[in-house]
Amino acid sequence: MAMSYSEKVMDHFQNPRNVGKMEDADGIGEVGNAKCGDIMKIYLKIKDDVIEDVKFNTFGCASAIATSSIATELIKGKPLKDALSLTNQAVVEALDGLPPVKIHCSVLAEEAIKAAIKDYYDKNGIAYEADLFKESGCEHCCHNG
Ligand code: FES
Repeated sequence: MAMSYSEKVMDHFQNPRNVGKMEDADGIGEVGNAKCGDIMKIYLKIKDDVIEDVKFNTFGCASAIATSSIATELIKGKPLKDALSLTNQAVVEALDGLPPVKIHCSVLAEEAIKAAIKDYYDKNGIAYEADLFKESGCEHCCHNG
């Protein structure tokens, strides 16, 4: 069965934004997808609680690359609290949707961003509420699925 991707997914897959490494990142988040084994790494440059720059590397499928790419655009220049509230649904909507079997791919971006912010908080001794980084319901469903 052919899978149909939106034009935005194809665009971000073929021309991903903000790809690469960052040598002087303030926070790095690396997550793996329990369902398929794909891996995503996100680097953040943070100043005054604002994400000044972001880069990512994804070893994953087209949907994972497209969602990482658009997620970096959604959080660049934004306060950390906005990045923390970015959901995988918002990422999927920004791409004009994903095929249902590919929704789990979009969870990587949300989780990698959260992991990178947690890394930044931990490295700088910044206190945060423990449940800020609790496992998302979706990750839970992937483990079960
Ligand atoms: Fe693994 Fe898409 S199949 S992230």
